[in-house]
Amino acid sequence: CGIVGYTGHRPAVPILLRALKDLEYRGYDSAGIAVLDGDRLAITKKQGKIANLEAAIGPLPAATAGIGHTRWATHGRPSDRNAHPHSSCDGRVVVIHNGIVENYTALRSELQARGHAFQSETDTETVAHLLETEMAAGADLFEALARTARRLEGSQALVAMTVDEPGTLVATRLGNAGGIVIGFGNEETIVASDLAAVLPLTQEVAFLADGQVARVTPSGAEVVTLTGEPVMLQRRRIPIDPVTALKGQYPHFMLKEIHEQPEAITDTIWSLATLDPPALYFDDLGSAGDRLAAVERVVLLGMGTSLHAAMIGQRYIEAFAGLPAAADNASEFRYRDPVLDDRTLVISVSQSGETVDVLEAMAVARRAGALQVTVCNTEGAQTTRVADGTVYTRAGLERGVASTKCFTTALVALYLLALRIAQAKGRLSEEALASHLHDLAQLPRAAADVLRRRDQIRKRAVALAAAQHVLFLGRGLAFPVAMEGALKLKEVSYIHAEGYAAGEMKHGPIALIEPTFPTVAIATQHALRSKMISNIEQIQARGGPVTGVITEGDAELTALCDAVITVPAVSSWLEPVAAVIPLQLLAYDVAVHRGCDVDQPRNLAKTVTVE
Ligand code: G6P
Repeated sequence: CGIVGYTGHRPAVPILLRALKDLEYRGYDSAGIAVLDGDRLAITKKQGKIANLEAAIGPLPAATAGIGHTRWATHGRPSDRNAHPHSSCDGRVVVIHNGIVENYTALRSELQARGHAFQSETDTETVAHLLETEMAAGADLFEALARTARRLEGSQALVAMTVDEPGTLVATRLGNAGGIVIGFGNEETIVASDLAAVLPLTQEVAFLADGQVARVTPSGAEVVTLTGEPVMLQRRRIPIDPVTALKGQYPHFMLKEIHEQPEAITDTIWSLATLDPPALYFDDLGSAGDRLAAVERVVLLGMGTSLHAAMIGQRYIEAFAGLPAAADNASEFRYRDPVLDDRTLVISVSQSGETVDVLEAMAVARRAGALQVTVCNTEGAQTTRVADGTVYTRAGLERGVASTKCFTTALVALYLLALRIAQAKGRLSEEALASHLHDLAQLPRAAADVLRRRDQIRKRAVALAAAQHVLFLGRGLAFPVAMEGALKLKEVSYIHAEGYAAGEMKHGPIALIEPTFPTVAIATQHALRSKMISNIEQIQARGGPVTGVITEGDAELTALCDAVITVPAVSSWLEPVAAVIPLQLLAYDVAVHRGCDVDQPRNLAKTVTVE
């Protein structure tokens, strides 16, 4: 979910609505705002996207303070009633919430027994009632929130306001499910779940830590811990240009972001390395840099697209640094008893730096004393504050729910980080570094070259748009690429797709093959091509049509496959970048052909802050 609050001297509603649009990628089942209208709280909330809310808001009250929310449903299905903000019985307090109140059933029963009537099925509403109870006992809203927060179990972030204290908002962050960032303007203050909503107003910000409670007014913020000790907030200036948030000439953010890859890759490479002299610069690694030499094992964590990047990163680390490495799904890792120690390096990959499963897995790693580095695209995000060091990808803001440029830039960052670890372990000669960087320097041009081949991809998209299922196959580095291609297709086009290691295909999936079941086989030059040829033949022998993603000039595969998508030749280690871009475009074109909502696919959220 996305949350925002504003207090200042300007009309709050337009500011809140704009901020909600910036937060819509966090979920868009329903949205709502509350502002002070004279001596009452005016709440408007609507199921569906922000546009529905905008249409439902009548003549705007001239309020200069308010809160807004865009929801990704957890407790209670998407509906007007379950949309946030939620208010107390007496309607004097309103709350917005991100995360889950894990003990809400017990709290709700307790409140009901004391005569509180509930209007929604949400866990959030219990918080409004608890605040009301505390205020009835004499606390102001700030104090009421601190007392209430002590009773809540689970990870969450909350913002509330009351009719009794005009111009004041309160906020808290509990655990890792949701960050709270406060932005300080000129006699106006904004508080939100993430920077995207704050930056258009101000670049001067501070982040709340776990267990802190803030009282926010136009002139700033006062912060205490849950037990009431005062906290000095560290303010910082965030250098991000809000203009990059615009769609520009493209019909969808996803297409824009796919096309931004040559530039994003360039920015990522040259923020971490130079070619002349060949050198690596990891400015944000901090103390982690000095500890790399002692690392004996590496675990890479991520979710979704970032997990696929982690799987490729694993291979870079094994190959370049010669260390045992394993990629793992953070949501599984956090509930196991992983074997870790202070010689284990845990690399978390997360474009947002806010994914709750990744943060909780990092907490497990921290307790075990592991060294931690995060690969992240968001300045100041939570993973960067938990890890010992950060490798920033320089992809710029990514809005499309289906991640594209953050995937390829994460691959670049992992490639360079693997070289950095190899260097620390004394396994990287000057010549080898120079040669790897030389290969990398060719990558932006190769990415741009793939983008120029859109026509061949569009043709394949028309053919695949009618399929009910698609199988993606790859081997070696192309196996995670196959998984990513399948994920992209199912996310945006709703076609069922599976990504498989091609060698595994014979052990089950081949039973599905028939003429109406297409396969996309990634068989570029270095991706165990000769083995892929056998797999392609096995599928064709069962009547399955095969589209090959191949290196240009490969006459043998062009003749063998039913159709091909060609990519330029790049070094073996960087083939995943060249091969995934056509799969991103393929998913996009199929989705557009099927009339799907590409940037906001149903049921998804870009940043998942619940388990
Ligand atoms: C969600 C998004 C995916 C993303 C995943 C992990 O599922 O829809 O695109 O890959 O979260 O996000 P992260 O921000 O941790 O990379």
